[in-house]
Amino acid sequence: MQAINGDYTGKDILATSQFTTHDIDILFAEANRIRTKIERGEVLTSLQGQIIANLFYEPSTRTASSFVAAAQRLGGGIIPISDVHYSSVSKGENLPDTVRTLEQYADVIILRHSEQGQAGVAAAAAKKPIINAGDGAGEHPTQALLDLYTILRECGRVHDLTVTMVGDLKYGRTVHSLVRLLAMYGVKINYVAPDSLRMPPQLVYELASRGLQQHETTDLESVLADTDVLYVTRVQKERFKSEKEYLAVKGSYILTPEIMTRASRSMIVMHPLPRVDEIDPGVDSDPRAVYFWQVENGLYLRAALLSLVLGKAGARA
Ligand code: NCD
Repeated sequence: MQAINGDYTGKDILATSQFTTHDIDILFAEANRIRTKIERGEVLTSLQGQIIANLFYEPSTRTASSFVAAAQRLGGGIIPISDVHYSSVSKGENLPDTVRTLEQYADVIILRHSEQGQAGVAAAAAKKPIINAGDGAGEHPTQALLDLYTILRECGRVHDLTVTMVGDLKYGRTVHSLVRLLAMYGVKINYVAPDSLRMPPQLVYELASRGLQQHETTDLESVLADTDVLYVTRVQKERFKSEKEYLAVKGSYILTPEIMTRASRSMIVMHPLPRVDEIDPGVDSDPRAVYFWQVENGLYLRAALLSLVLGKAGARA
């Protein structure tokens, strides 16, 4: 896996370990530049002549459509394969053959897969860049980057914050990627999960060896008052072997307006979405709920990433 090392051009985006804080600064500056232009109503053409293939082996609303919107906002074309059952995958085509085919048409391939490690398999087969849009319970680097971008915009800084992750920390790939990024910024992390959905011990160990302060608990209220960023996640139903196992932990943590009264006035509530029942809709009108701003930030962040990977960043509109 190639480090970004200040230059995104032509590189696969597979995992958060490819990034330094300098690489992230470059990406966020490009996202801000694109945001300003789109907000001013400018029509952007920097990706004109470029084609993006969206290859999704798992359901998606935000990730898939934000890549489509990002490409189209910048004048690029898109090949959307959002239901592989209607593609040759259903005839038994393997992933390397599918990506080797799509790269004949497209300049970059966005891949979501249900199995951890498949983004790497695709990258090994393809000459064109692969962007990992979530691989099983593995990583989801573009979500983590947009989450970090949201924290920076909403809190004004990342350093010294206390971030509390709650929900399915075992299978939640957005959490796995985000903590790896946060570990570069000197934050304090609380993990709140039922015993069976705790953060993978191997990952906790890896982050501890990088100096990240981590605290595990099953009691949300014990850490709520000191939390700056509350990152809520869905229990990942599709990763359980049986419905019974899922039902045993579903609804373990539900954030309500009443619980929010005991949180700091400046705390923000994030969620990668989709939400099931872990945030009561009554919380949505609370100004501290920023999950729909996260969605908006995802558009600018992914537009910036496409521009950088395709060597079109900073281009004149
Ligand atoms: C997440 C995902 O797919 O990992 N959603 C997303 O990309 N915004 C979280 C989830 O599915 O729970």
